[in-house]
Amino acid sequence: MNVRREFDGESVDRQVIPLVNLAWRAHGPGTGYGWSGDATTLRDMLAIHMERTEFMQAVVSEEVERLSGTPAISNATIRAFNVRALDSTLLLKALEQYVLSLTFFQSTYDLVMAGQASFTPAQQRGRDLFYRIPDPQGSVRGAACIQCHNGPNFSNYEYANNGLEDADHQGDRGRRFQTNDPQDAGRFLVPSLRQVAETGPFMHDGRFASLRDVVKHYNSGVRSGALVEGDLMRFYAQAGGLGLTDQEIDDIVAFLYTLTIPTPIE
Ligand code: HEC
Repeated sequence: MNVRREFDGESVDRQVIPLVNLAWRAHGPGTGYGWSGDATTLRDMLAIHMERTEFMQAVVSEEVERLSGTPAISNATIRAFNVRALDSTLLLKALEQYVLSLTFFQSTYDLVMAGQASFTPAQQRGRDLFYRIPDPQGSVRGAACIQCHNGPNFSNYEYANNGLEDADHQGDRGRRFQTNDPQDAGRFLVPSLRQVAETGPFMHDGRFASLRDVVKHYNSGVRSGALVEGDLMRFYAQAGGLGLTDQEIDDIVAFLYTLTIPTPIE
């Protein structure tokens, strides 16, 4: 789903960032919420969305009114907050608790880690490629995704440029909207890959429909022009890409699928 956001008087269309395992994410200095780190806490992030447009403000006040008339909600409000009247601040806190409850931890990957399942050969090959750093001579095959998608949620929760645009790109400048630092142009929050099979279309603007398209981008589509010194993506662009075979691309996709628990569509 696309959401239009305003930054410095410029509007950009963004994909909704997946709300996955936020209860377990890193809260280090410099980390933030939203694709460009628009807020420093989850509550602030949700508040930005709840207050963003007149439409949303109307939705929130209608909801407060509707819920206030329900005895079950009045009782729950007293139990949770020790006050009688629900208001938009309390609704925000309740919403934050709900979002924090969206946790996913029983994927095939987790079962394998717990010794209760095994990867298929394709998933295992994909896992190895995901973790390995390739050497310049090509004797070690690897895609080094782990440089940014690491830790229990497969994100370091930092801002990175993954080479989607050239340096002169005028549209969404990502983290630069917050810091005004030219080096932050094109940097976005590294998203968690938990539940990734269900969070498409992918990237901040939803430009890739499939995980295969994503891996193909890393393999041969990374634009070096936008990358500044020290960007981890630099070697993806050097020597014309990672040089993965079709089979290796499929293997990485197979591994990515193991990070998702299939959930019924409601
Ligand atoms: C330099 C850090 C970095 C590396 C290395 C990296 N990624 Fe990413 N990845 C990102 C960033 C940043 C985004 C979000 C970019 C955006 O939306 O503009 C992203 C987005 C994604 C997404 C889309 C998730 C979503 O919900 O939209 C997938 C899938 C993904 N990466 C998989 C991989 C795989 C597979 C590899 C290895 C081949 C990899 N990444 C290597 C930083 C990285």
